[in-house]
Amino acid sequence: MNNWITAVFSPTGGCSKIATSIAGARMGSRIDLCSPQAPAEVAADTPLLAVLPVYGGRLPAIAVQRLRALQGQGGPAIAVVVYGNRAYEDALLELRNTLTGAGFKVIAAAAFIAEHSIVRSIAPGRPDSADIAAAVDFGNAVAAKLANGQPAPVSVPGNEEYRPLPQMPVTPMVTEACGGCGMCAIKCPVEAIPADNPRSTDASRCILCMRCVAICPRKARLLPPPAQAAFTERLSAVATEPKQPEIYL
Ligand SMILES: Cc1cc2nc3c(=O)[nH]c(=O)nc-3n(C[C@H](O)[C@H](O)[C@H](O)COP(=O)(O)O)c2cc1C
Ligand code: SF4
Ligand code: SF4
Repeated sequence: MNNWITAVFSPTGGCSKIATSIAGARMGSRIDLCSPQAPAEVAADTPLLAVLPVYGGRLPAIAVQRLRALQGQGGPAIAVVVYGNRAYEDALLELRNTLTGAGFKVIAAAAFIAEHSIVRSIAPGRPDSADIAAAVDFGNAVAAKLANGQPAPVSVPGNEEYRPLPQMPVTPMVTEACGGCGMCAIKCPVEAIPADNPRSTDASRCILCMRCVAICPRKARLLPPPAQAAFTERLSAVATEPKQPEIYL
């Protein structure tokens, strides 16, 4: 088997940390699903590790669309979702089905936990050292399964009739601290921030991935405080009890 191709959509870094730990020294080329992808075939002897975040119990639609640009040739794939300690609902099944539909055989799957990118006080510091150790163990177990002849496909939880895609009620606002550097416009995965006016946000494109908020060097982007307070209150009621990684092999 070749090194693993890793396809990751990670606006605020949680999925990247998990992907790096799972792949370890097996990491081959990396595909950044935060950028548009040209169609590409993945050889049958090259495993694909796909790591996507959970948004509203689903996958971000743009990440699914870009993942579909990769065409498997019946080769193995590893489906991993990362969520902010609330729930992952139909996201892992959606990822498995997306990969299967693109010509891969999903032979392993997992759900890991990272800080909630909208409310950073939910699951703070995760993935922690135990999560990273679980991700390393998972990668080793997948490698052993791959080395073992014809690895069988896995089942994962979720409803085939997926939850509806979430509607984002708000976009980040920009304060007077903005220096107009344009970094947020370059990094936005859906081009919702015009390069010639990075103080604005196109609400019809924004998926509330929180990347611009996380990366702004002047901390000039943030959710409007009432919206941030509402998210914090709602999630604190349902997402505080620490969840643990789940493995499907
Ligand atoms: C728009 C949006 C919706 C989210 N929905 C969920 C969810 O349904 N369940 C959950 O546990 N976490 C949810 N999260 C938290 C993310 O899944 C989690 O923070 C993940 O680590 C983000 O990945 P990243 O750090 O690679 O960007 C959501 C985050 C965002 C931005
Ligand atoms: S990254 Fe921050 S400072 Fe730079 S343009 Fe965007 S909001 Fe302004
Ligand atoms: S404008 Fe919206 S989609 Fe773009 S980086 Fe910011 S939160 Fe993400």
